[in-house]
Amino acid sequence: MPATVVVGAQWGDEGKGKIVDLLAQESDVVCRYQGGPNAGHTIVAGGETWKLRQLPSGVVSGTTSVIGAGCVVDPEVFLDEIDVLVERGIDPSIVVLSGNAHLIMPWHLTIDQASERRLGRLQIGTTRRGIGPAYADKASRIGIRVQDVLDAKILREKIEVALAEKNVWLERVYEVQGFDLEDVWSRYAGYAERLAPFVGDASLLVDEALHDDKSVLFEGAQATMLDLDHGTYPFVTSSNPIASGAPTGVGIGPTRIDRVLGVAKAYVTRVGEGPFPSEIQGPQQARLRELGGEYGTVTGRERRCGWLDLVALRYAVRVNGITSLALTKLDVLSEFAELPVCVRYRRRDGGETPHFPAHQSDFHHAEPVWEVLAGWGEPLDAIESQHELPPAARAYVEFIARELAVPIELVGVGASRDRVLV
Ligand code: IMP
Repeated sequence: MPATVVVGAQWGDEGKGKIVDLLAQESDVVCRYQGGPNAGHTIVAGGETWKLRQLPSGVVSGTTSVIGAGCVVDPEVFLDEIDVLVERGIDPSIVVLSGNAHLIMPWHLTIDQASERRLGRLQIGTTRRGIGPAYADKASRIGIRVQDVLDAKILREKIEVALAEKNVWLERVYEVQGFDLEDVWSRYAGYAERLAPFVGDASLLVDEALHDDKSVLFEGAQATMLDLDHGTYPFVTSSNPIASGAPTGVGIGPTRIDRVLGVAKAYVTRVGEGPFPSEIQGPQQARLRELGGEYGTVTGRERRCGWLDLVALRYAVRVNGITSLALTKLDVLSEFAELPVCVRYRRRDGGETPHFPAHQSDFHHAEPVWEVLAGWGEPLDAIESQHELPPAARAYVEFIARELAVPIELVGVGASRDRVLV
């Protein structure tokens, strides 16, 4: 199947990086289509751990790796990760950066931080990497793009225009110090020489690869429930992680996508604020967090942990058009005797629904209806195929596939690349 989108089916951190890394072994191109250094993709390969924020996970296996127009790029993070590639003996010329991607500017970081501080208890819990403000400027058509860096004069003009507004906003509204034109300009113009070799036509590259029957992976960052349009707004990111964001963000038509692989953990985690019906109440939450190592890759924050939520996953199948699922971290559940699974939501009127609520207040008030499955009580370390799984573990996987009417193609049973059962 030449064009596959890999999309997070929950609130992020499903282990997409590892799945992309695995599929990248047999792919010709891997593309990021949205988001920026708010992503935190952890990959364990060949005894080495990679923590990527800006670059596609395909770089780990030396696959051509594209950053599409729909992404926002922090040049410092980008260049630091390029340095890591070089240190680890990978030729960085595999990376292609769309000139249409937007740049995260220093004021985006300051505004992200200041606006969260101002929101106080209403804060979104962003990664504070400047993502929302960068996308806001893009939509307002005052953003600065990768290609602008390549022309020092244009770059200076654009920074000047942006700062005329941003500095007033920073100083008067947020009461923080503004930025100096010369400082910002010299810093960003200084990136030009190092960025230039990576800048290319991402849309054309992917189109030609597909014409030549090459296989292309589209790697979603963040996840369905964090989608700007279809997630749990306002507790979302500022781009479109769902599968239809892939053709838009890279610059190909939607008819080119062949399959959509959803990645879901065998349970659920969420970082940041917002409602979370299947969140575990009581000490089991901390136990699951410890067992699963559920701490943010980018921020180090404790992730909130819950039991599997099939209502939210059913919704993810719908809005992404998921054709198959990868279920990750099944091994983390091995120590639990019982595994509650949220199969429906109970509404305020007492009725039950298998469907994700269309309105936020219904979601805020939704209560989980549980079905309790048996645990398997043994480690999965030595398991080499789905057929060898303990009966209760197989029953857990089959229950999910049946409830969602989607095949489960991959099951993750350990951290490294080879601990995925096909
Ligand atoms: P932002 O993307 O930094 O603006 O943050 C918006 C929301 O998305 C917050 O709830 C973040 O915690 C969440 N978020 C952003 N990136 C990730 C990620 O890679 N994993 C999980 N949550 C994320």
